[in-house]
Amino acid sequence: MKIRNLILAFAALVLVGCTAENKGEMGQAEKRAADPRNAAKIAGDKSSGYVYMTAQTRDMQDDDFANPGFVWIDTGEGAWNKVEGKAGKACMSCHDIAKFKGVSNKYPKYDAASKKMVSLPHVINAEREKRMGAKPWKWESDEMMGMTAYINLQSRGMPVNVKIDGAAAPFFAKGKAFFEQKRGLMDLACASCHDANAGNMARSNVLSEAHVNGFPTYRMKWQKMGSLHRRFIGCNKNIRAEPYKRGSEEYTNLELYMMWRSAGLKWETPSVRN
Ligand code: HEC
Ligand code: HEC
Repeated sequence: MKIRNLILAFAALVLVGCTAENKGEMGQAEKRAADPRNAAKIAGDKSSGYVYMTAQTRDMQDDDFANPGFVWIDTGEGAWNKVEGKAGKACMSCHDIAKFKGVSNKYPKYDAASKKMVSLPHVINAEREKRMGAKPWKWESDEMMGMTAYINLQSRGMPVNVKIDGAAAPFFAKGKAFFEQKRGLMDLACASCHDANAGNMARSNVLSEAHVNGFPTYRMKWQKMGSLHRRFIGCNKNIRAEPYKRGSEEYTNLELYMMWRSAGLKWETPSVRN
């Protein structure tokens, strides 16, 4: 379906008559749609952000040696093995990373103690504080990006799947409402761009379906690995809407909805995006 959108966007550009810049984009769109690598990145009517990227960006993601995200994977692995804090422990003192395959599909998860949803960075910091007596990391720090990417990498190739029933249900409803709510000076919802207009251009970007299976992601524009909540902030600011804090309840509930929306696509952390 989304490939069809790309072709439709292409057709629309032909209809309206196009500038030199758009012509370049049309050629790109055709090439993107025909890339045989797409098959692994599409599930039913869902296409990963990968499908909307340029050939160059895909090449970078596909080669673990060229993929700049692996610099953060190394940071994460280093942090996993490093003894820190009063208890004199490292993550590896208690855990075997090989057993973390699939763990990423558990988050965001309902936490009975706080009566809220927690996502993976919340849990990592709780582990550091409670089990290691170590200081928490900043949400967007290289260590946290590295650790979340290292953990998500264990699930690479597995389909995204998250629990949204039971105690999670009311939080899921809030996340869904957030996605559909129009906001900001431009009065746009997430859905206005990513459901209604995927495949079309927004300034110099091709709009993707906003799937979350590649996060944290190495983004060229950021020149570093960035969290999903950073992406939410960017998308809120683009439409002149007040952003929320990383790790806030609003963004954690939104993350839960987005995970469900991406279910079936395969984990591809660390992804590379434009
Ligand atoms: C002193 C031992 C200990 C240390 C150190 C420790 N953990 Fe844990 N961790 C546990 C135990 C026990 C559990 C709960 C049982 C389980 O799920 O394995 C747990 C649970 C977890 C979970 C939830 C797993 C799931 O399946 O939902 C994550 C994620 C996690 N730890 C990550 C880490 C990370 C990252 C570090 C290092 C920053 C760390 N832990 C350090 C003992 C430890
Ligand atoms: C004005 C249009 C617009 C709106 C509204 C918007 N975004 Fe985006 N978003 C973009 C653009 C442009 C990009 C970069 C290209 C792409 O992947 O779509 C992007 C990228 C993303 C990505 C990255 C996808 C990937 O594969 O890495 C996610 C996730 C995302 N947006 C989520 C959201 C959420 C959640 C909202 C609502 C809070 C939202 N967006 C609102 C334009 C928008």
